[in-house]
Amino acid sequence: MKHLISMVDVEGELEAIIDDGIDMKRNGYRRDLADKILAMIFEKSSTRTRVSFEVGMQKLGGHTIFLGKNDIQMGRGETIEDTALVLSRYAHLIMYRAFSHTDMVELANHATVPVINGLDDEEHPCQVITDLMTVKEHKNRLKGLKAVYFGDGSNNMANSLLLGCTMAGMDISIVAPRQYWPADAYVNKAREWGKVTVTEVKEGAALDADVVITDTWVSMGDETEKKERLAALHPYQVNAAVMQEAKPDAIFMHCLPAYYGNEVTKEVAHGPQSVIFDEAENRMWAQMAVMKWLLK
Ligand code: CP
Ligand code: NVA
Repeated sequence: MKHLISMVDVEGELEAIIDDGIDMKRNGYRRDLADKILAMIFEKSSTRTRVSFEVGMQKLGGHTIFLGKNDIQMGRGETIEDTALVLSRYAHLIMYRAFSHTDMVELANHATVPVINGLDDEEHPCQVITDLMTVKEHKNRLKGLKAVYFGDGSNNMANSLLLGCTMAGMDISIVAPRQYWPADAYVNKAREWGKVTVTEVKEGAALDADVVITDTWVSMGDETEKKERLAALHPYQVNAAVMQEAKPDAIFMHCLPAYYGNEVTKEVAHGPQSVIFDEAENRMWAQMAVMKWLLK
């Protein structure tokens, strides 16, 4: 049985999943998951993840059940193990948006059906598979492209981008203040697949970039650090000057939600090089492909 907990889990399968997402988007889809049930546990807020899984599963003929953590007994102390074992008796798939990667792994260890990581404190694989699908849609390839990520290099998006971009044959730079650099484990794993640069120096970092990426400076769970994060990350904003440095046909990406005036200006995010709403749409197509792959 397969799970999607980390980008590592799609090694060797990534391009096939992406291509299936693009194919369904362009050419249509069938009821491949007719009568399948996806249970979704949310410990954190969500717009895209919830709606894209619900609509995507409906398109494939299946159904979803939304479980806010405080609506289920897990919120009152029922163990993750028992929750996993019980939900596995009703559902064919479980999606989990968690605060803790340890809890994510525990759920997957006990579930008897595939578990999908819908974001935790370490990774956001659904988003990065989607992002790579979006890059391929716009650039017709992945191999040999250069991605540059500015901002919080220590968050879930940075970690999954490191793994996903290198696995896809892209170079990736993380441009962040030293205290927000990614953990060595992610950098070292990514370096097994491709070229990784981690730097504090913003000037010149976007040169030759095909893809410029950022994410919020204050991820869910980091709210108590908001003040110091905004101060430290302020110089790493993606703005017109950064986009000027990148290739003229570079695209701008952000998983959303965005905080305009912080990690990116609205001018860039809603400008001609931005593909942020394609990314949002593609969550649905990519996750349809992920669910089909997990249940194959
Ligand atoms: N990008 C993303 O995961 O968005 P939501 O938090 O709205 O699900
Ligand atoms: N890094 C962000 C992504 C939100 C989709 C967070 O974890 O809040």
